[in-house]
Amino acid sequence: MAWHREHLPDPLPAEPLELAADWLAEATRREIQPNPNAMVLATADASGRPSARVVLCKQITPHPGFLTFYTNYQSHKGRELEANPRAAIVMHWDKLHRQLRVEGRIVRTSAAESDTYFATRNWQSRLGAWASQQSEPIGSRAELIGNVAKTALRLALPVPTGDEQASDPGLRIARPAHWGGYHLWAEAVELWVEGSARIHDRARWERALTPQGEGFQPGPWSVSRLQP
Ligand SMILES: Cc1cc2nc3c(=O)[nH]c(=O)nc-3n(C[C@H](O)[C@H](O)[C@H](O)COP(=O)(O)O)c2cc1C
Repeated sequence: MAWHREHLPDPLPAEPLELAADWLAEATRREIQPNPNAMVLATADASGRPSARVVLCKQITPHPGFLTFYTNYQSHKGRELEANPRAAIVMHWDKLHRQLRVEGRIVRTSAAESDTYFATRNWQSRLGAWASQQSEPIGSRAELIGNVAKTALRLALPVPTGDEQASDPGLRIARPAHWGGYHLWAEAVELWVEGSARIHDRARWERALTPQGEGFQPGPWSVSRLQP
């Protein structure tokens, strides 16, 4: 058996998120899957009951060390994150044989950061943020589409037709206060590379986070190689 496969750097880097950001950048550049920035986000309610779903990682910021994603603050995940501001994510780049895991603490992005990102979204997505009460039940799909049309009229926007190519009406759509971003501050990071003969390569970095201002003061990373 040839031990030809990629493995983690040896010695391991002192801190993990630059390599994680390189992995995400490579997956994006090589277009290896439709949503290379998709990540499974696990949250838990105040009693510890878990739930998970996919969201998009909009940024990995290696220093001071957090990931950014956006959602509806009143959604199921949003309510869990307010009650229990901890989360874990997994990103899996199947064709690159790599997995990234991050566990840590959750802080809302500033209103200014959420505004800046919201303004980059296409107008249908911005309208959707107003029209959809994410995670709430609705009677039918027709009712949902009716709500989108009503919201479009209220905001003096064109009613979307489902045509993805429709041009941006060019109108300013302000961010609703219930929609915005979170930073997941990394307390633990695991990088995993698939190995030959199931001898995968894993390493886990851990550090302490001390609350400071709107975020945390991170301590130094410690790292161990783990058995697969
Ligand atoms: C590829 C993909 C990307 C998604 N990206 C997001 C996202 O960035 N933010 C978000 O709120 N939901 C996103 N969703 C929808 C979520 O998976 C989920 O259905 C929604 O956020 C409601 O989750 P909740 O009820 O647990 O809060 C995405 C789904 C998929 C499949």
